[in-house]
Amino acid sequence: AQIVKELDKLLLTTPSPLKEQKEKEFEGFQRLYSKFLEDDGAKLQWEKIEKLPEDSVRDYKNLEAPKDDQITDMLRKLVVVKLNGGLGTSMGCQGPKSVIAVRNDLTFLDLTVQQIEYLNKKYNANVPLVLMNSFNTDEDTIKVIRKYTNLDIRIETFNQSCYPRIHRESQAPIARNCIIEDDQEAWYPPGHGDFYASFANSGLLDNLLNEGYEYCFISNIDNLGATVDLNILNMLMNPQNGSPVEFLMEVTDKTRADVKGGTLIQYEGKLRLLEIAQVPKERVDEFKSIKTFKIFNTNNLWIRLDAVKRAIDENTLDMEVIVNPKTLKNGVNVLQLETAVGAAMKSFDNGIGLNVPRSRFLPVKKTQDLLLVKSNLYHFKNGSLTMNPLRSFPSTPLVKLGDNHFAKVAEFLRRFETIPDVLELDHLTVSGDVTFGRNVSLKGTVIIIANHGERIDIPSCALLENKIVSGNLRI
Ligand code: UTP
Repeated sequence: AQIVKELDKLLLTTPSPLKEQKEKEFEGFQRLYSKFLEDDGAKLQWEKIEKLPEDSVRDYKNLEAPKDDQITDMLRKLVVVKLNGGLGTSMGCQGPKSVIAVRNDLTFLDLTVQQIEYLNKKYNANVPLVLMNSFNTDEDTIKVIRKYTNLDIRIETFNQSCYPRIHRESQAPIARNCIIEDDQEAWYPPGHGDFYASFANSGLLDNLLNEGYEYCFISNIDNLGATVDLNILNMLMNPQNGSPVEFLMEVTDKTRADVKGGTLIQYEGKLRLLEIAQVPKERVDEFKSIKTFKIFNTNNLWIRLDAVKRAIDENTLDMEVIVNPKTLKNGVNVLQLETAVGAAMKSFDNGIGLNVPRSRFLPVKKTQDLLLVKSNLYHFKNGSLTMNPLRSFPSTPLVKLGDNHFAKVAEFLRRFETIPDVLELDHLTVSGDVTFGRNVSLKGTVIIIANHGERIDIPSCALLENKIVSGNLRI
């Protein structure tokens, strides 16, 4: 009741053109908040996890390619959605993450647009690109997408909700009014699980359904492997037996680097996403084991639009609340309540997992990912990256760049005159004040460590093969 009063007070300060929208958002926030109060501390009952039914997680290898003359018709029913609410702050950039240049000066957004434009041209289709922006990314994104106006691609955007951060102790919103510019830190975009509600609230869901679209393919904009796959589309649009798949989650084999990723389980008769936050403490090691839970969620999802509509209308979407504690610049401790888009799987009928090749999961979270994406490890064509066939084994090198000197994109770029040859690299660790000259070649396991006060400059054209470099080395 207290929170309702506080929200009502905030609503009074909302400029009138935005009132209706804010009311809808606050309804969503209230639902999330009540769920947070109910769920608090409630973990999943481990004993109730059932064995995964046969065929619930299928293998990509068994999918059939569509016939050439079917492709255009299938693409006519597809919408591509990119989650674009996030900022580039963790890589030291201002503005939306999607405008960071990742390859040949092309940004995540450029690459996505190129991919879809190519698809549309090749198959005479008109797959729209839908961007879910947040109040943090909308203005900049709208400016950037103007440059695509002359291309053969329809781009739609909608804004996700903007929820009030709450004080950790009093649990009251910290915002004084509803004018976000007055105090940006008092608000937040509530995670990608907000997709369903804000997509529906924006009116886009209804419009696209009326235009005959059937499926949306959703993915993180920073996953360069998340391209439209025609074999997956074929499976969804031409189901072999019976009722259509409402929700498909692409999963991939877990390695020791992915042990924290969410996995799929059968629970109360349905397939669902299990995230580490829902795992009882004494079961965390079991959850992380790559033998027990062999796969993890890539966040590439294919969802039927009519099923989203039904779930919204009947209010049946059920997503666990993720409680994200933050400390503001002024030292105030706040909570933000979020949800994840994949968590809604259990609210749909006929949900399945699809075990896809690792190449469909190529996220760029840190500059060490950027190093590989920019390197000769990948070939780049029509907005897509493929592994260079000259690499003799399919796994990517493990790269660790020190946070103090390499975390920010600008500094990372300054430290590499050109991106080294990594075709035969297995493992690279770099720590401290290190720079790389032109045309450096790295092979096998290479470790370069400049301790505090030292600097290492790797000279141009150097070949480092199974080498440890430490101490001062200046050129
Ligand atoms: P995250 O920051 O959540 O990345 O953004 P993550 O650490 O990989 O997390 P999970 O495991 O996918 O949740 C993932 C994508 O979701 C978008 C980001 O822009 C990014 O493309 N996102 C995130 C939103 O659109 N809105 C949000 O509120 C949060």
